[in-house]
Amino acid sequence: MRVAIYPGSFDPLTCGHVSIIERGLNVFDKVIIAVALNVRKKGALFTLEERIDQIESCFTGKNIEVDTFEGLLVDYAKSRGTNILLRGLRAVSDFEYELQMANMNRRIAEDIETVFMMTEESHFYISSSLIKEVARFGGDISGMVPEHIVDPLYKKLREEG
Ligand code: PNS
Repeated sequence: MRVAIYPGSFDPLTCGHVSIIERGLNVFDKVIIAVALNVRKKGALFTLEERIDQIESCFTGKNIEVDTFEGLLVDYAKSRGTNILLRGLRAVSDFEYELQMANMNRRIAEDIETVFMMTEESHFYISSSLIKEVARFGGDISGMVPEHIVDPLYKKLREEG
């Protein structure tokens, strides 16, 4: 069985993520969505539990699993018995960061393979951080995050002040 790990912070899950996961399921038997606990980004908006719930409710009946990991991604992949990482590639700006990560991961664990999927055009410019910025200032984010995340996102940002 071919299992791919799709890692990220998913704060929140975007329609771009959903699309990559769905397409990943056309290629792999199972996708493990691995929410990173120790990313360098500053404080998360949604709690870990909220993010896990948001992801799970998007893929009921599909062969996915939502898990969390701490420490090195390559160690986590090994512990899950796979060497395949799945990542989406948006614009050119993603390329350098992704190239660095893919090569660093392969340097520290030589059997690791990162498989990239080009993000659909309609999601090319979508990122969790830009969506949060647009929502924070009252912009319309429908169609950028799954339906069930729209209201909670506005609510969180209001609470945050
Ligand atoms: O899509 P994101 O949110 O930018 O995801 C980044 C993530 C979580 C994939 C990356 O930060 C990561 O793998 N962190 C775990 C620590 C690690 O293994 N670092 C070395 C990567 S070269």
